[in-house]
Amino acid sequence: MQITVTVNGTEHVREVEPRLLLVHLLRDELGLTGTHWGCDTSNCGACVVWMDGTPVKSCTVLAAMASGRHVRTVEGLEGHAGLDQVQRSFIRCHGLQCGFCTPGMLMTARWLLDHNPDPSETEIREAIAGQTCRCTGYENIVRSIRHAARAEKSRDGAA
Ligand code: FES
Ligand code: FES
Repeated sequence: MQITVTVNGTEHVREVEPRLLLVHLLRDELGLTGTHWGCDTSNCGACVVWMDGTPVKSCTVLAAMASGRHVRTVEGLEGHAGLDQVQRSFIRCHGLQCGFCTPGMLMTARWLLDHNPDPSETEIREAIAGQTCRCTGYENIVRSIRHAARAEKSRDGAA
């Protein structure tokens, strides 16, 4: 079947198997390997992308379901001004070790701060509850998201 999906602002037309998962369309057809595929059980969250502005686990979405939709992946976080603040804060606060969970964490973090610019630690932990990190113990991920929130608040206050 033919699908048309817009990823990070670029429209792609592809012939795909009806059973193809969005995560495999992104990685194997479009070469966007920033989105990770970590499990077969819909549990790890390494595959989180946005579809029409909402985070989804791309291993739970058929590529066909993304037809006509706008998908944003971790490759789409960086803007003209450089890395997104959440990316900078993860670097600054050591919010990653092996980095496998990081693309999904970043996409969820960006969505959270877009909808709640000053989240509490509890709200951050709730937002990332569907995602697994086997390295950091989550402390530095939470710290990174709080750092990004503070940085954006002071930047917006200065503007
Ligand atoms: S690869 Fe999607 S939840 Fe693990
Ligand atoms: S940094 Fe290794 S799984 Fe999170």
